[in-house]
Amino acid sequence: MYILGISALYHNSSAALFKDGELLYASEEERFSRVKFDSIFPVKSIRFCLEEAGITKKDISKIVYYEDPYLKVERQIEMYQDIIKIPFMSLKAKLLAPEAKIYDYFGSQIKLEIVNHHLSHAANAQFYFGDIESAHLVADAVGEKSSMWMGKYKNGKFEQISEVHFPHSLGMLYSTFTDFLGFRVNADEYKLMGLAAYGKPKYQDLILKTIKTYEKDKFELNLEYFCFQNLPGNSNYTPMFSELFKDIPPPIDKNFKQEHMDLAASIQAVTELILLEKIKFLKDKTQSKNLCLSGGVALNCLANMKIENSKIFNNIFIPPNPGDAGSSIGCVAYTLLRDRIKTIKPLHSFYGQKSHSLDPAYLEYETQNIEDKIGFLAKKIHEGNVIAIYQGRSEFGPRALGNRSIIANATIKDMKDILNKKVKQRESYRPFAPIMRTENVNSYFEIDHHVPYMTKTYKVIETMAKNVPSVVHEDGTARLQTINSENRLLYNLLTKCKEQFDIPILINTSFNLSDEPIVNTPLDAYICFLRCDIDILYLDGVIIEKKNINKYQINNAKRIFKDKTRELDRNSYTF
Ligand SMILES: [Fe+2]
Repeated sequence: MYILGISALYHNSSAALFKDGELLYASEEERFSRVKFDSIFPVKSIRFCLEEAGITKKDISKIVYYEDPYLKVERQIEMYQDIIKIPFMSLKAKLLAPEAKIYDYFGSQIKLEIVNHHLSHAANAQFYFGDIESAHLVADAVGEKSSMWMGKYKNGKFEQISEVHFPHSLGMLYSTFTDFLGFRVNADEYKLMGLAAYGKPKYQDLILKTIKTYEKDKFELNLEYFCFQNLPGNSNYTPMFSELFKDIPPPIDKNFKQEHMDLAASIQAVTELILLEKIKFLKDKTQSKNLCLSGGVALNCLANMKIENSKIFNNIFIPPNPGDAGSSIGCVAYTLLRDRIKTIKPLHSFYGQKSHSLDPAYLEYETQNIEDKIGFLAKKIHEGNVIAIYQGRSEFGPRALGNRSIIANATIKDMKDILNKKVKQRESYRPFAPIMRTENVNSYFEIDHHVPYMTKTYKVIETMAKNVPSVVHEDGTARLQTINSENRLLYNLLTKCKEQFDIPILINTSFNLSDEPIVNTPLDAYICFLRCDIDILYLDGVIIEKKNINKYQINNAKRIFKDKTRELDRNSYTF
């Protein structure tokens, strides 16, 4: 029985296809549409899932949607009705949009089930964690009406213990500071987190003035400081908020001064303080050993580290895609767990686009006669080259976990700057993430277990941090991923780098340019490679060196990219 999960129309739309309790395929729409954080109804991802499975719409037994549009619109009416008179037809259109799009695409006979937003988040984590009893904390900007859900899971049943209602929202509190410091809301929160490492939480008490209460399961903002709850699209904060932080005027052109970093560190510290309160509350109520974290706030790997280090729970689990995109998995998983259908626990996140036959045009530039490709790549890494890896299926989630990755030598002192100059063009303060073999992890980190999803940061052993400066945050931690033999290419490459060149750690960053979605197809990879200064592309076994490609070809790639970008039209889909 095929079941399709859909998360859409807010941000990061996605689709996920299950068969008899097993996740087969999943993708975010942005990977196909090439529009970062695309919120459109995910036709391309749905089509991908069906084509990969070799089925048609008629083979789908049920669609599960990740949130209840009725409850969501009810909340919006409650919020906005005193401010503007929303035309009835506009509300109706909004209310019916998800269902209308689903019925239009699949036909009116299709069976549709709707799962609550936060239960979809929780079930995504539970599905990845396994059918094991667990406490749950879900925190994001907003679901239908609530912004935080505390509960527990056992034997197919999710039970709510407490929840916090919007506009009192930890996610929106964090996003308000994201906005205040000149970043994009619902997009750049991870950049604010990166900035936090360079500051001291000097303004923690000032921030706490904007919060009425955060004890135990409670969380209440002082709404005089916030206006994100008023009208969508407006500023997130009021003049009173600006007055409170008047000594820290927002940065101009992302020119961050120490006070901005201190403010970032302060909101990070406040977030951790609030999360720890909820987690202590959950421990008290559940006495569970296990805690699953999900919702957009669970992408905050610094907070996740603090939660793990608190040792309040023995096991902290965060799925590889804890935000709304992951809810296309979560909403289906909820129904499977509830209906006691045997599920197969996923052991990876490679559910997206697979590589397909390469265009002969790429092969024209292949470096020939390399007997030992791993040895060749290791040598090039040792020499300081930047290498793009494209292999197998895309990762489902915001982290490149080795199949769509740019890698480089982490032991080279200036590698962060080199990568930023050659490829990423991102904020210079942001460190890159390290990958290393699981069996070597305790030589650099104070842990000795496998870390597959890059959802937490870990302390780097102090004496070793100086060896890999490009991947160590200012606070001495790194957002680690470990590689085992299941990822044969990267495992063998790490082995070679260590044994032959004494490089135990590589930088791993996503294969994309700044503010673009991660590459999906071989063509995306090839064009991205040509549009920047990556030295070598490993394209499913084919090695292409930039030095062998002529200027004409590079200009041609740039033209193709421009044409592709022009094709991106919000209204181009029909169904
Ligand atoms: Fe959410």
